[in-house]
Amino acid sequence: MSGHDVAQPMTSAKSGPLTGTASVPGDKSISHRSLIFGAMALGQTKVTGLLEGQDVLDTAKAMRAFGATVTRQAEGAWTVDGVGVGGFTEPADVIDCGNSGTGVRLIMGTMATTAMTATFTGDASLRKRPMGRVTDPLALFGTQSFGRKGGRLPMTVVGAADPKAVRYALPVASAQVKSAVLLAGLNAPGETVVIEREPTRDHSERMLVGFGASLNVEKTHEGNVITLVGRPELRAQTVAVPRDPSSAAFPVCAALIVEGSDVFVPGVSQNLTRNGLYITLAEMGAQIEFQNPRTEGGEPVADLRVRFSDTMRGIEVPPERAPSMIDEYPILSVVAAFCDGKTVMRGVKELRVKESDRIDAMARGLEACGVRVEEDEDTLIVHGMGAGGMPGGAVCAVHLDHRIAMSFLVAGMAAKAEISVDDASPIVTSFPIFESLMNGLGASLRKG
Ligand code: S3P
Repeated sequence: MSGHDVAQPMTSAKSGPLTGTASVPGDKSISHRSLIFGAMALGQTKVTGLLEGQDVLDTAKAMRAFGATVTRQAEGAWTVDGVGVGGFTEPADVIDCGNSGTGVRLIMGTMATTAMTATFTGDASLRKRPMGRVTDPLALFGTQSFGRKGGRLPMTVVGAADPKAVRYALPVASAQVKSAVLLAGLNAPGETVVIEREPTRDHSERMLVGFGASLNVEKTHEGNVITLVGRPELRAQTVAVPRDPSSAAFPVCAALIVEGSDVFVPGVSQNLTRNGLYITLAEMGAQIEFQNPRTEGGEPVADLRVRFSDTMRGIEVPPERAPSMIDEYPILSVVAAFCDGKTVMRGVKELRVKESDRIDAMARGLEACGVRVEEDEDTLIVHGMGAGGMPGGAVCAVHLDHRIAMSFLVAGMAAKAEISVDDASPIVTSFPIFESLMNGLGASLRKG
């Protein structure tokens, strides 16, 4: 359980039209990075719009344990007095990253090239997730790690005393692995090169440049070749965290499937490495207007006007789009259930190693709600039942996964019968105001 010791069931009943403005919290990926990069910079970094979700609070605590001063000044307004690249001090106790794969993997990278030892753990979900994808490339710098079978947490990482810069081609499309290697490369003399065949979210690259690192991205036939010069002096920055497109996905998709809805969602990122869901929804026939495109906090954003769309149809989602919408497949599979025809999601095996096995969690929950689903290791197919067609009437298991919980609660807003989740407590990791925001739009979410 994330943030709570006991399961907190929640129920979603069929909702009247959703209307009004959905102002979602700050981006989780950028929030983690603003604290971590702030901790590695000299001077005081000022952050506004920080997501105060449990995952990010756990990263703030970890940065304090490594010697940075992290202070909450007001709601969403935080300062980080950094210690500089290579300036971390050895933590006195185990670092508990809670539910956060991003937190633990980025922090492992950050300390991996400084001579110190740190032990990491997390909740029952995080302790199941593979860390070898990060510790394998870190070993090339000279870092050692000792974890449980299968590279699972708890894990002790011994930072390299004499780190060597590395060249590493990512075997999986993962921004967390890319970022961990780049963060380790910061304290390794020479050039660290990361090659990614498929582009993944690029917040680390953008922000490292903003903090003063010398980083170059070259687009080649091999993919993006990212070159970072080690041992830069990072300088404190002012970071305005934009809203999280992955959180915006929930009110957006709810408005699409709840009859009569008309919802305004301001400031949704249009960053090409994050906007795959919005392209997919447009292809399905969703009524979404993209208004007032602009730049906020260094990210391209637009305001979305989303209307109930009763003629959406299932599509084949191109597998190469997966990295740009990897966190959005659970809610997309809910929308797919309210479409006509089938939606085919291939190339999605990474979903099996998220906060839960998301292919399995969505397939079992949708089946319990009366939806026909097919799956294999790398594929999820949802047979749509048309607008308002999902029977519902089930209790869905969340497996400590915030996005599974929110997805089924959104499904309950449009299904014929109520849908419950066995535990809504993980929602605090990324979207602490989910219940009040959705009920404010007209949803009927209730505890229990
Ligand atoms: C994230 C990267 C993605 C994503 C996660 C956040 C990040 O994970 O699923 O929620 O902030 O770098 P992977 O790198 O494992 O794909």
